[in-house]
Amino acid sequence: EKGGYEHFMIKEIYEQPKAIRETMTGRLAKDDSRVVFDELKWTKEDVANIKKIVITACGTAFHAGIVGKYYLEQLARIPVEVDIASEFRYRSPLTDEQTLAIVISQSGETSDTLAALKEAKRLGARTLAITNVVGSSIAREADQVIYTWAGPEIAVASTKAYTTQLISVLMLALYLADLKGTLPPERIQELIKGLRALPGQAHELLEDVEPVKTFAQQYGFNEDVFFIGRSLDYAVALEGSLKLKEISYIHAEAYAAGELKHGTLALIIEGVPVIALATQHDVYEKMLSNIKEVKARDAVVIGIAMKGDEEIKKYVDHTIFIPATDKYLAPILAVIPLQLLAYYAAVTRGADVDKPRNLAKSVTVE
Ligand code: F6R
Repeated sequence: EKGGYEHFMIKEIYEQPKAIRETMTGRLAKDDSRVVFDELKWTKEDVANIKKIVITACGTAFHAGIVGKYYLEQLARIPVEVDIASEFRYRSPLTDEQTLAIVISQSGETSDTLAALKEAKRLGARTLAITNVVGSSIAREADQVIYTWAGPEIAVASTKAYTTQLISVLMLALYLADLKGTLPPERIQELIKGLRALPGQAHELLEDVEPVKTFAQQYGFNEDVFFIGRSLDYAVALEGSLKLKEISYIHAEAYAAGELKHGTLALIIEGVPVIALATQHDVYEKMLSNIKEVKARDAVVIGIAMKGDEEIKKYVDHTIFIPATDKYLAPILAVIPLQLLAYYAAVTRGADVDKPRNLAKSVTVE
């Protein structure tokens, strides 16, 4: 059932090109002009009534929500709050009929997320679930559902669910942008073309995993690893850090790169691996300054950058390149080497990859 792979996690990492293709199937207009969501069928009036979006989720799905905030705010120009489900439900959220509450959950059974969904409904919000499991509790409770169609995810560490959640929220943002007229048609088309290229690019990335494997073996016995990035790269850093912690038990921290000098820089000492994501062009120069700050403390820096970026090599010790893509699509590719890093680090340390200690696939207790 693992199809020749040693663990479910690595099988699921490799299933990503197919999973992300399935998520998009039937949802992109043939002429690339817009996203089609037959399951939503919203009108311009429906969308004009959405004054605010709140996204709630747990763990990896919460990290997908953080990326979703960038997508929905920047492309559809709707204010978005992202909240951890177990926090949302106890903070008397300012949610009403003009709020769209989005919950994201692979399993559709996470009890905190389900409770947050019920709370949002009680407050009168319109609700939308993004989930992978047809007929799950969350799918049944929400007013509307977008299925991610990633196929069953067995490994406790979420991989293909995350990438398909990102695709789903991006498509939702483009769908809303079209109805609200917040993006020029050419820009929508450009992003849809970029989406279509992703399965092939993810496949390309998975063809050459040797460098990542080598870094994992080389640094797999360090006790602390830092992940830094700005903007969307920061959101991906959070997910990379969680992945590494949960399966390899290496202590990892993700930091918005500009925040390092407000305290955390004290922890960067000689030899500490720092994974620096630098895929976002609008903050690229700022990111290079942050890389220089950690290099000055003798950290070992592994840069994650887009193919064609020769500049980065001057500043880092090693580089992992992802295929060149739009800044909004970069997270979907950039997370893949981080998933692989976590996987190979866990294998190097002899950890039980698919069933990490103390964790359950679906958390149905509070
Ligand atoms: C991390 C992981 C967890 C889940 C979280 C939410 O790899 O798997 O953090 O993402 O427990 O689960 P779902 O998405 O099923 O609600």
